[in-house]
Amino acid sequence: MTAESVTVRVPAKVNVQLAVGGPRPDGFHDLANVFLAVGLYDEVTVTPAESLRITCSGPDADQVPLDASNLAARAALALAARYGRAADVHIHIAKDIPVAGGMAGGSADGAGALLACDALWGTGASREELLEICAELGSDVPFSLVGGAALGRGRGELLTPLETGGTFDWVFAVADGGLSTPAVYRECDRLRGEAEIPAPEASEALLDALRAGDPAALAAAVSNDLQPAAISLRPSLEATLAAGTEAGALAAMVSGSGPTTAFLAGSAGEAEKVADALRASGTCRAVRVAAGAVAGATVVG
Ligand code: C5P
Repeated sequence: MTAESVTVRVPAKVNVQLAVGGPRPDGFHDLANVFLAVGLYDEVTVTPAESLRITCSGPDADQVPLDASNLAARAALALAARYGRAADVHIHIAKDIPVAGGMAGGSADGAGALLACDALWGTGASREELLEICAELGSDVPFSLVGGAALGRGRGELLTPLETGGTFDWVFAVADGGLSTPAVYRECDRLRGEAEIPAPEASEALLDALRAGDPAALAAAVSNDLQPAAISLRPSLEATLAAGTEAGALAAMVSGSGPTTAFLAGSAGEAEKVADALRASGTCRAVRVAAGAVAGATVVG
């Protein structure tokens, strides 16, 4: 019997370390990218249809492209091409991850659609094959499939799973409007000018803190090389970061390429306090609380 529809739940991510090397000849940057999947989710449902079609629901649905530029559409087309079939599905995205926010929401939808179509069509693709397609779709897409915690090398797609010894409690402040990832990388290069850029390396102190499940040690070790560029393009982020720090966050940082800002708290209770203070600060559009690490893309129905 063929399934009527398949739903996959996919988490957002925060980068606890984002070390960025110099620009490569192909335009990308080599990274040491330590990803943590956090409990904010998009749900991607695929249903057999006459032809490929995407719909989206959720508070920011109007900002989501519904054409072939959507990574979910590209994922369905890539899998269909590989298995010589039509991408004849309706993809519905129930969106809860901030759009263009530096939390890999688009990548999550790509990984979700890929896993959902794979289950719907029963292709029998191996995990390696799915990861290969993910890497073709975008640098962050393999991590959205895998979840948990991982070190991403290369442009972020070459993953090594990492151990986490406990749960980390985060608060995310969602900014008004998005930031373009290529624009943030370009600004990073511009700010660095002619400076010599060392090869990006994962911080041993950070990996130890993850392994120990120690939020204070993790807070002391987090870093994001894209943060100066995101702040340069969106100076108002300084005020959001300051509000979270004042409220007692152990660490305050831009999430990935921004403009979402991420605050590490010492406990779930502390996270709620930081969230309340950020809501009252008037320095952001919305505030979300989420813990990690959580599992990657998972079939839920
Ligand atoms: O791989 P993805 O499509 O997510 O990348 C979007 C853009 O971000 C790239 O076109 C590039 O400008 C920038 N990028 C980069 N180095 C990386 C990842 C992304 O320069 N490692």
